[in-house]
Amino acid sequence: MERKPERKPEDVVNFAAGPAKLPREVLLEAQVAALNWEGTGIGVMELSHRSKEFDRIQNECIGTLRRLIQIPDNYKVLLLQGGGTGEFAALPLNLTQSSDEVADYFVTGTWSQKSAKEAEKYIKVNYVLPKTSKYIEVPHESKWQLTPEASYVYYCDNETVHGVEFPSIPNVGEGKTLVCDMSSNFLTRPIDVSKYGVIFAGAQKNVGCSGVTIVIIREDLIGKTRKNCPIILDYTVQAGINSLYNTPCTWAVYILGQVLKWVEKQGGVTAMQANSATKSTMVFDVIASSNGFYYLPVAENSRSRVNVPFRVGSEENREKLEAEFLEEASSRGLLQLKGHRSVGGIRASLYNALMPNDVEKLTTFMKEFMEKKK
Ligand SMILES: Cc1ncc(COP(=O)(O)O)c(C=O)c1O
Repeated sequence: MERKPERKPEDVVNFAAGPAKLPREVLLEAQVAALNWEGTGIGVMELSHRSKEFDRIQNECIGTLRRLIQIPDNYKVLLLQGGGTGEFAALPLNLTQSSDEVADYFVTGTWSQKSAKEAEKYIKVNYVLPKTSKYIEVPHESKWQLTPEASYVYYCDNETVHGVEFPSIPNVGEGKTLVCDMSSNFLTRPIDVSKYGVIFAGAQKNVGCSGVTIVIIREDLIGKTRKNCPIILDYTVQAGINSLYNTPCTWAVYILGQVLKWVEKQGGVTAMQANSATKSTMVFDVIASSNGFYYLPVAENSRSRVNVPFRVGSEENREKLEAEFLEEASSRGLLQLKGHRSVGGIRASLYNALMPNDVEKLTTFMKEFMEKKK
């Protein structure tokens, strides 16, 4: 079998949408911890989840997260399994009592669409926004249709596939239980947790590897789980036992804790926010000054700072140019830039572990490619 030439991590930039790049420092420490955690002679994956050592790993991880986004005392942090997709079902099963209840769903892309579909198995879903097959914006408030009696209001802060991000917390009125999927922009800007009933995020984009999902929930919403909710998705049970009902993905919890400490060392979420602005502006600027050679379909006030989908060339030569773009980018070590199969084109994911100098390699390439092809 033909072997590809070997590459070192420092020769490449990984623009994957998730699982995604992890900070190098975290991986270097993880190598050691995998074999021998803190000189115990036992690798971190070999520690019992019932041991005092793992208890410390879990509690330090939660403590760091609490500090990073100032989680108020009346919120619990759960570390669960089942991914973001697990939460799509967990939410209606924990926040509503019967299939007659209604929840409002903002659908702005693939992930909120999937979540609304899953919720329809358990409750009535009111689609707040006009239905569309093109997700290119968060429509203006004048187009929102909210239900006064909704048990909760759901939105996805950043749509990973379509690159649509809410510029700020949607104003859905006083007293509503706001539920948010922050899987792909978690910790890329400050979060006012007190505005939410529930926030959830899979770790594998900005804060770790796959296997753990963070759920931040206001305490008064706990204790209302439906009787037929699978116990693994039961917030009441998991909150009562520090998310240790069954064997957690201990490795993913360890990595999450290490990435959170790394974020803290970098200057916290405000530093991540500044980096996100710098990185995304670099890419937006090349697109804007390309005279249409590059095209970003998302409306300016809704374009994501972390997933930038764009097209190359015109309708006639797009397929060929995009294939060449990906091929040449890859030969320069700029990897995993292919857009999601449902939208095509290119997608640059600019998560926290990517630095502006990594993104500069992409923008330099984009300019050179345009000069050569236009
Ligand atoms: C915004 C968002 N929500 C939910 C999910 C689903 O997460 P999981 O694959 O962990 O179930 C994804 C996956 O990429 C996502 O990007």
